[in-house]
Amino acid sequence: MGVQINPSILSADFVNLESELARIATADQVHVDVMDNHFVPNLTLGLPVVRRIAQVSPVPLDVHLMIDDADRWAPAYAEAGAASVTFHAEATQAPVRLARELRAGGVRAAVAVRPATPVEPFFDLLGELDMVLVMTVEPGFGGQAFIEGMLGKVRRLRSAVTAAGADVRIQVDGGVSVSTIAAIARAGADVFVAGSAVYGHEDPAAAIAELRTLGDASYDA
Ligand code: DX5
Ligand code: ZN
Repeated sequence: MGVQINPSILSADFVNLESELARIATADQVHVDVMDNHFVPNLTLGLPVVRRIAQVSPVPLDVHLMIDDADRWAPAYAEAGAASVTFHAEATQAPVRLARELRAGGVRAAVAVRPATPVEPFFDLLGELDMVLVMTVEPGFGGQAFIEGMLGKVRRLRSAVTAAGADVRIQVDGGVSVSTIAAIARAGADVFVAGSAVYGHEDPAAAIAELRTLGDASYDA
């Protein structure tokens, strides 16, 4: 199985979302960043917009919730039509209960960790999860520089997933580009979020293809 490329619509033109989604029809999924201006200092979109995106998107939705009180709000995003819902470790009281609730709602469940949050507490919970997202920038904004120090976290997570024989994808979000993707894939990530690298390119489909080629060449499944 090859790597997945999930463009982030945070870098798209929010006034023309339908046509912006059509430009990334060759992607694996579309990454939808939900921000509440509390968990992160930025505000994007919520349930009504996610519902409409799900109706018109040519690819499944990978929803990244950067919101407080995920236990209360995340399940509604499963109902809204997401294929995968990622909540933050720092914003949940009960990650296992929430992951089970999401899976019962028919979506893939994922947990995200900010750069300063250790991933080790989730090593014994991999069976409850479909994906772990390692943030490689402080969440909140697109176009930030990749934090090199996160490669070790990705490596340790890959070792734990392999040791557990778990069917868990490793996603990386923040600063993914043609310059960084090979090293991240070598460290063991297999799902790549890319905002500015895709939507900042004049031809998003070409950017997706190039990222996929570079990722596949370096990922050793
Ligand atoms: C940042 C978001 C990212 C963002 C990545 O908090 O979670 O998904 O869109 O943007 P780039 O790829 O430009 O770093
Ligand atoms: Zn994101």
